[in-house]
Amino acid sequence: MQSPTILNAAKAGEPATPNGAEAAVPLAPFIPRHVAIIMDGNGRWAKRRHLPRTIGHRRGVEAVRRVVRYAGDRGIEVLTLFAFSRENWRRPPREVNELLSLLRRYIQSDLEELLSAGVKLTMIGARDELDPDLRAIIEDGERRSAENSKMHLILAFNYGGRDEIVRAAKRLAKAAVDGDLDPDQINEGDFARCLDTGMLPDPDLIIRTSGEQRISNFLLWQSAYAEYSFPRTLWPDFDEVMFEEALCDYARRERRFGAVDGGAARAVG
Ligand code: IPE
Ligand code: IPE
Ligand code: MG
Repeated sequence: MQSPTILNAAKAGEPATPNGAEAAVPLAPFIPRHVAIIMDGNGRWAKRRHLPRTIGHRRGVEAVRRVVRYAGDRGIEVLTLFAFSRENWRRPPREVNELLSLLRRYIQSDLEELLSAGVKLTMIGARDELDPDLRAIIEDGERRSAENSKMHLILAFNYGGRDEIVRAAKRLAKAAVDGDLDPDQINEGDFARCLDTGMLPDPDLIIRTSGEQRISNFLLWQSAYAEYSFPRTLWPDFDEVMFEEALCDYARRERRFGAVDGGAARAVG
């Protein structure tokens, strides 16, 4: 897709031009390193069309393909997609089975394209709770794409932020009990490295589609200084133009990380 590289927008805090028009801001320097998306609204998309919710999820996979390609073209380093939460097991078994099977089918059908596009695939979430055959498919994708470096695609599946924090705390507690770690020396960096996201940069921009404005247990630790975007679009309708709009909006934000104007780096940690 052909995208504009100059935004007709003023950075927050900067004066508008004398004629009242907003100053042009180049998008390229403000492309977030890490974008995370809460892909919400599949069920409502289907309901509006009097279709089963499962059809909404299937159409959602097409939106996944669009955003993965677009993020790669745009030079986004890390793209995290929230595909299934640990709380989503509360849904009817038929819907849960469809979501599990969509992940399996997505990896099976799209892995070759991801590999040739230089995408590295990683899953975050409680993988021990998944069926061994699904795990094997995920881990095969992770192994085969491990050396890729164009973009890192993180699939948050069976993921819950609190669960991830508890698992990290257990790892640290075990290391302390084993005598490999002094509890008084534990710092934020040690804790972050024990999370599923390990050494990844924190998300700069979190997009949640469908108009809901909540975090639903997503990247609780990592989102400390994330910017948010809440487009009203239902996930199956989300496309490159809407993604671009979210990036343009992000480019206008002024991130401070607790410092004063202009005094902060563009990332923490
Ligand atoms: C997002 O769409 C997909 C998952 C949570 C797995 P939903 O299924 O939550 O759609 P709505 O929110 O009911 O419309
Ligand atoms: C969050 O959406 C999880 C995913 C998008 C995978 P939900 O639809 O499950 O969240 P709630 O229940 O509306 O908070
Ligand atoms: Mg939802």
